[in-house]
Amino acid sequence: MSIGITLNGVSARHPAAAKDAPSAIQAIDLRIAPGEQLALIGPSGAGKTTLLQLLGLAMRPESGRVEFAGQDPWGLSTHALQNQRRKIFYAPQTPPLPPRQRVVAALLAARLPEQSLLQSLLTLLYPRDAQIAQSALAQFDLQDKLWDRVDHLSGGERQRVGLARALISSARLWLVDEPLSALDPTRSRQAITALTRAAKERGETLITTLHQVDVATREFPRVVGLRDGRLAFDLPSEQVTHERLAELYAQHEHELAQASGTVVNLQAGAALDTPPAPAPAKIIHCR
Ligand SMILES: Nc1ncnc2c1ncn2[C@@H]1O[C@H](COP(=O)(O)OP(=O)(O)O)[C@@H](O)[C@H]1O
Ligand SMILES: [Mg+2]
Repeated sequence: MSIGITLNGVSARHPAAAKDAPSAIQAIDLRIAPGEQLALIGPSGAGKTTLLQLLGLAMRPESGRVEFAGQDPWGLSTHALQNQRRKIFYAPQTPPLPPRQRVVAALLAARLPEQSLLQSLLTLLYPRDAQIAQSALAQFDLQDKLWDRVDHLSGGERQRVGLARALISSARLWLVDEPLSALDPTRSRQAITALTRAAKERGETLITTLHQVDVATREFPRVVGLRDGRLAFDLPSEQVTHERLAELYAQHEHELAQASGTVVNLQAGAALDTPPAPAPAKIIHCR
């Protein structure tokens, strides 16, 4: 079963935040159905990463309620909470890949949580699952990097290896933070298509923060706009108009222009400046 998650009036602040700083997330209501795909957008500092950490059970809310797969995860024992976290694949913006490791081992480590200790040692010593790793890499055009050392890869290649880890893991909820930040537009398109397609095929829930609003509206059926820790909108992507984007990025227009790779025309009524979508992976609306 893929995972659904609900936030009811959730607020959160970072432990290290200044006492007088506003909460990074403020009274958010969000309901994400199992198998759904959602993009989170908004200017820097809006709280996208913090929200992803809340959804990934890496951060406890200061108030409000989280429901993860039908349960309050923060009411569970430590052991049971750990078990729930094993169902989550969380990809931070900079993937945590040990520099001296081979790509094959770094990838297969994504499976370790659900393996026995013996299995994991075997996997690391004799990468017998190299075939699986190879086919995950191929989705990101990295099939010839299987035996390379991580520190021999470019930043963009490392980011794509980080995404290929999702395909290796057996997690049911994929949370991906700014997956395209080190990629050029062609690679971005290829990577996001590989990720959304794989999640669709398996029926996994996929939530990703994105800087590129054109990618968000083109590749995701649902787009959530976040600003100053609050939900600005939560809409089917076809309803995300230029007016909404202009409001969301007001005083941060430079981010909107950079983010989309093309300069978005923010005038009222202008059509979204997006190239046609690539080959049609079936879009599942789960709400
Ligand atoms: N580790 C942290 N400690 C203290 N404050 C933080 C920390 N991480 C983020 N914040 C603050 O929380 C707010 C939201 O940040 P973040 O979730 O990183 O936004 P985004 O991902 O949209 O750029 C910002 O005001 C930021 O300064
Ligand atoms: Mg962030």
